[in-house]
Amino acid sequence: MVDFYENNNANVHRGVHALSLEATEMYEKSREQVAQFINAKDVSEIIFTRGTTEAMNFVAYSWGLNNLQKDDEILVSLMEHHSNIVPWEIISKIRGFKINYVNTNPNGTLNIKDFENKLTSKTKLVCLNHISNVTGVVNDIKYLSKIVHDYGAIIIVDGAQSVPHMKVDVQDLDADFLAFSGHKMLGPTGIGVLYGKKVLLQQMEPFHGGGEMIKDVTFNFKNQQCITSWNELPWKFEAGTPNICGAIGLAAAIKYLNHINMSNIFAHEQTLTKYAINNLKNLNKITLYGPTDSNRCGIISFNITGFSSHDVALFCDSYGIAIRSGYHCAQPLHQILDLQSTARASFYFYNTVQEIRRFIEILQEL
Ligand SMILES: Cc1ncc(COP(=O)(O)O)c(C=O)c1O
Repeated sequence: MVDFYENNNANVHRGVHALSLEATEMYEKSREQVAQFINAKDVSEIIFTRGTTEAMNFVAYSWGLNNLQKDDEILVSLMEHHSNIVPWEIISKIRGFKINYVNTNPNGTLNIKDFENKLTSKTKLVCLNHISNVTGVVNDIKYLSKIVHDYGAIIIVDGAQSVPHMKVDVQDLDADFLAFSGHKMLGPTGIGVLYGKKVLLQQMEPFHGGGEMIKDVTFNFKNQQCITSWNELPWKFEAGTPNICGAIGLAAAIKYLNHINMSNIFAHEQTLTKYAINNLKNLNKITLYGPTDSNRCGIISFNITGFSSHDVALFCDSYGIAIRSGYHCAQPLHQILDLQSTARASFYFYNTVQEIRRFIEILQEL
């Protein structure tokens, strides 16, 4: 990113001068790297956004406003981050469709029976995360997307917690849309991705209007109107000056992740998670949430009797250990699990068993 700002910084797609051509090439190469990383069929299926949240809103406004109506239903799981709940609530107030919420089991896993019961011929869309940011539960998207498609519906997958931690292949999962954020995978903030199947993106109306996303804006003197036509994919959805440097930073992060290898990252985090759970569960007064089997990732939410989650986080912070506390933007999940809030430790591939041992010692002291 420093190199880009020092040597190639210019706007993309609009200049004929050398810097603009360089910046455009670097930006579009970044898109290609993202496409390869998630095995998209076509590079035009990759739209840069500000992050997962903007990607979800994008689908809600662009696809949802134009495809959902009064008698339609959508399915949203109760383990979703607010970014995969609130946009749908907003759009449903405008379009009048019904949102059915899918329950979780007491251990935080998706209630598959409830999912299947609520999926009907009226269901047009299913909104589901790949990995919960509270319990680390991994949803079997490949299996679920098949059922969803059997009903003629489409599925949007929140990949914010999966793309950074495991090999995600959109063609294998058969996801219609997938969203993720750069800052959760060693990239910068303010950059993220919406993957969408080309056939869907082609039918969709733009989310934002302005420069870059148009082919023509012609003024009709007689009618005193502007007639606009849209640019091709993916630029139809990237109005205005994009986060050029952010995309280049994300591509650099992807290069690094590829070098380490996503299978190695997943395996290492599994080892850390198993070690952490096996040792944390022996502590006095601790309650761990989420399944105890292996179908989970390196996110461990817990409470310690007698302390609020913020107290626990502040105590850990005084030893230089950063954990989250509160609802983690997933308040409905906390409600159905009957929890006020939780403390949450999460790991990435740079963490070590020694660090987890130290974390456990600190909790023991508390
Ligand atoms: C599962 C999940 N979805 C969505 C988001 C929202 O991501 P962002 O804030 O980058 O838009 C997060 C971030 O915490 C998350 O963990």
